[in-house]
Amino acid sequence: MPGPDGPADEQVVLRLDEVQAGYGKAALVLRGFSVEVRRGEIVCLVGPNGAGKSTVLKVASGLLGVRSGTVWLNGADVTGAKPQDLLRRGLSHVLQGHSVFREMTVEENVMLGGYTVDDRATVMDRVEFVKSVFPVVAERWGTTAGLLSGGQQKQVEFARALMVRPDVVLLDEPSMGLDPKRTAGMFEQVSRLREAGVAVLLVEQNARRALEMSDIGCVLDLGRVFVRGPAAELLADPQLGDLYLGGRPGGDGAAAS
Ligand SMILES: Nc1ncnc2c1ncn2[C@@H]1O[C@H](COP(=O)(O)OP(=O)(O)OP(=O)(O)O)[C@@H](O)[C@H]1O
Ligand SMILES: [Mg+2]
Repeated sequence: MPGPDGPADEQVVLRLDEVQAGYGKAALVLRGFSVEVRRGEIVCLVGPNGAGKSTVLKVASGLLGVRSGTVWLNGADVTGAKPQDLLRRGLSHVLQGHSVFREMTVEENVMLGGYTVDDRATVMDRVEFVKSVFPVVAERWGTTAGLLSGGQQKQVEFARALMVRPDVVLLDEPSMGLDPKRTAGMFEQVSRLREAGVAVLLVEQNARRALEMSDIGCVLDLGRVFVRGPAAELLADPQLGDLYLGGRPGGDGAAAS
């Protein structure tokens, strides 16, 4: 457990400890939820609709406060910090269903991500970085973003999130609205984030596919962690497959009768 100075382990980028959170007077959504994301690691959060996956990401990025529990970022207690403070401290959140500003160019969209950076040289340096990670951003730099395909727009959105050179990125359903080919491309982009040393907390409807590329899997149900472990172990668990991953691999998805 972390002491008063935060998690001792420097490899831990983001950590939620026994978080309780909810909306207004309604019942709590998270009832003692904990998760840890380490440097260069992809942690995949799985669970049924309404389980609280997006709520976890909102708590982590400061969009939603906690009733109790602690949020740690790079070893500092950031519980109650505002989203823009967390952005400056290295956390970037790509929201569910959110997308680019369609009437603005790719350049303008990406540059929005750099608004917290004062130094021009650093901004240009990061532009080169995101162009190298996302080729479409380089190729369509001057294009109006609304003219790009859905998958290309996703890349622009990712690029914007990377302009702050985050230590950790929160991705909420990045494959939403993408066809299978574009979904595969999106997963490839997420892998590249890991290669670039960025930690990723990923929420995905394509649970099985997402776990295949993740290091750690975490199943959330009824506001708590149902099970957590190496992603490969979760994938191999037949009971989890039936309950949370849309059936067993190669099966028809139906529970045994
Ligand atoms: N802004 C809000 N105000 C009130 N209740 C909310 C709000 N957002 C979410 N909830 C409630 O919190 C619970 C968890 O929602 P959340 O969006 O975290 O689920 P989720 O696991 O991301 O689901 P999905 O897979 O459908 O995206 C749900 O019962 C939902 O109705
Ligand atoms: Mg959600």
